[in-house]
Amino acid sequence: MKVDVLLGLQWGDEGKGKIVDVLTPSYDIIARFQGGPNAGHTLEFEGIKHVLHTIPSGIFHPNVINIVGNGVVIDPVIFKAELDKLKPFNINFEARLLISKKAHLILPTHKLLDAASEQAKGKNKIGSTLKGIGPTYMDKTGRNGLRVGDIFLPNFQDKYSALVEKHIGILEHHTDFTYDLEMLEKPWFEAIEDLKTLEAIDSEHYLNSALIHGKKVLAEGAQGTMLDIDFGTYPFVTSSNTVTAGTCTGLGIAPTKIGNVIGIFKAYCTRVGSGPFPTELLDNDGELMRKEGNEFGATTGRPRRCGWLDLVQLRYAIMVNGVSELAMMKSDVLGIFDHINICTHYKINGQEVRDFPYDVTDLEIEPIYQQLEGWRCDLTELDDFKNAPLALKNYVSYLETQLSIPIRVISVGPDRKQTLNN
Ligand code: GDP
Ligand code: IMO
Ligand code: MG
Repeated sequence: MKVDVLLGLQWGDEGKGKIVDVLTPSYDIIARFQGGPNAGHTLEFEGIKHVLHTIPSGIFHPNVINIVGNGVVIDPVIFKAELDKLKPFNINFEARLLISKKAHLILPTHKLLDAASEQAKGKNKIGSTLKGIGPTYMDKTGRNGLRVGDIFLPNFQDKYSALVEKHIGILEHHTDFTYDLEMLEKPWFEAIEDLKTLEAIDSEHYLNSALIHGKKVLAEGAQGTMLDIDFGTYPFVTSSNTVTAGTCTGLGIAPTKIGNVIGIFKAYCTRVGSGPFPTELLDNDGELMRKEGNEFGATTGRPRRCGWLDLVQLRYAIMVNGVSELAMMKSDVLGIFDHINICTHYKINGQEVRDFPYDVTDLEIEPIYQQLEGWRCDLTELDDFKNAPLALKNYVSYLETQLSIPIRVISVGPDRKQTLNN
């Protein structure tokens, strides 16, 4: 068997959590491969809305195993809060939620370093979720980090103290940054005890053996391609590889074992935090999109910036991920517009540009739009794509032609059921 991958093609929040939940019945294992509690994945069914940060989005389906892979970074406190929140749903976490021993731990001081670094950057700040993601991945690549497997070692406390001492040394340089570490440490060590109740595994062995035994695995991405540390709008990115290749390093899956790559995009575009966004709408249309799409961050509650769909960006994301099929989310939100714009190319210094350029931060980019008719109706009750308004069908087939990839799923609302196959 091969591992299918589902990931975001824009700047995150495309609706990954919803579609993983919808697809889970066809899989045996759902595995997160990167990111951490900077992610907020929303699932809605039976009138309840759940937001997951570290736990994979397959957790609500009985008999499916959920794995937090080695590429993920874990904040034990946030993880415990997620487990506590799910208590009323009687999920057998001991049997169904497995954690890689090689996943790195976010220490309280990683969060402090994140906040201190953002404060020092002033107006150039990344707009980080301040969950300690950057500093934790820095310690991973700097070969200083602590891993889940370490919490079972007798010298864990010593390892912890040595790393914290290093961090305090760095924090001393941030003279105008104040903090109370003790207050953060108590709940952290309590949460480590909760983490110990779950099974820590060698997830690369577990997953490869599962594949040999014919199990179906879906890898769940976090963030989005334009937040990838290599291919995103650097430096306004996260600190992990959010692209398909991240599945290989974040789970121990060989490239030859990657199957379908399902790319998710919104029918328009959003971004939360700082950084370039060529098709951003700073006018009333952007405000309307934010309102209609309820575009506020699932992790931080910050308003998301909104804009039209950007095919230059999307083609780039499809290329670096090797996307084999697409899912278009939030189609219902565009029902408020008479006309819908799609950016087909950029104009930079009078030149037509179709390949996503190196520099999108400092260059003056004029997005060039193709205008299509809007459908001007409520799609949220639509239960078959065959009955979709002609304007929506035209929108979908225009995109399929432009992107040369089939759009297999069209989402028309946040609920599990509001999902149409094409
Ligand atoms: P993720 O991080 O990719 O899982 O996405 P988020 O959960 O951060 O953000 C997606 C938001 O859109 C959530 O509030 C979802 O409930 C919601 N959502 C998902 N699909 C649709 C859709 O088709 N229509 C509408 N209106 N909302 C949707
Ligand atoms: P999901 O998985 C949207 C953004 C932050 C910031 C930048 C760096 O829900 O799609 P970090 O905390 O990683 O240092 O922040 O990346 N960001 C996200 N934006 N969705 C996410 O995750 C994000 N995770 C990080 O807003 O601009
Ligand atoms: Mg999100």
